[in-house]
Amino acid sequence: MIEFREVCKQFDDDIVLKDVSFRINPGETKIILGASGSGKSTILKLILGLIRPDSGQILIEGRDITKMTERELVAVRSNIGMVFQEGALFDSLSVRENVGYRLTEEGQMNDSEIEAEVLEVLGFVGLEEAIDKMPAELSGGMKRRVGIARALIGTPKIVLYDEPTAGLDPITKRTIVELMIKLRDREGVTSVFVTHDLHAASIIATQYASSDLDGNIAFQRGGDSLCLLNNNFIMLQDGAICFEGSYQELMTSEIPYIRTFTS
Ligand SMILES: Nc1ncnc2c1ncn2[C@@H]1O[C@H](COP(=O)(O)OP(=O)(O)OP(=O)(O)O)[C@@H](O)[C@H]1O
Ligand SMILES: [Mg+2]
Repeated sequence: MIEFREVCKQFDDDIVLKDVSFRINPGETKIILGASGSGKSTILKLILGLIRPDSGQILIEGRDITKMTERELVAVRSNIGMVFQEGALFDSLSVRENVGYRLTEEGQMNDSEIEAEVLEVLGFVGLEEAIDKMPAELSGGMKRRVGIARALIGTPKIVLYDEPTAGLDPITKRTIVELMIKLRDREGVTSVFVTHDLHAASIIATQYASSDLDGNIAFQRGGDSLCLLNNNFIMLQDGAICFEGSYQELMTSEIPYIRTFTS
């Protein structure tokens, strides 16, 4: 679904990524760890085509986006939802307008079709009743959930999360993490999860969503669920990938730099 081939990116004299290569399979969640400034958000911006690499290739669904025109990139981006830190909502627009923004801009649907989509994704994050509110009326955690709803509108195949749980209380954090698990296990979304939050990452890597006959979702731990194979960790250090592997491999790694994150 996403592939980096020897991607290099430099800002002025600052080499942020050097020869970074990885693949993300359909339905997989790639969790990117690394110190502040290690290039995590840069990777997300490269996937969105907001910035271009100095060298190397970036493939989305098998197509190299590094040579695409801006117009071609717009089409690629319509398949990608992005969850920004702090939600990054438009303050002057209501929740309805924020969440429906992309569909309104694309101009392919009429108002009642957009309304139905907005209600569906707000339902997914449990915030239908907030549809007429303005961002200033929402708590931080609600803004984050609206940000997720906005990323999900138009059912993107890929969702990128930049620190979606940072600065949230444990209960709201849990809600966000469960949404992410549900998207992975019930919707087959491919995602990239950039975080410092090893606890949130560990929940995603060790729990899966199942549904009973009535459609109620429950979160279960461990076992041999295939969903849990759909996680893969990367750690960045000095512009390169210093670790790639499963949660188990991450937690048992003896590499000193990794131990500073996991111990
Ligand atoms: N547009 C830009 N122009 C110049 N330098 C940039 C630009 N974007 C990022 N950088 C630099 O690239 C490096 C990596 O930034 P990036 O935002 O990817 O880090 P990060 O891993 O997301 O960090 P954090 O955990 O703090 O969010 C930093 O040194 C940053 O200053
Ligand atoms: Mg960042």
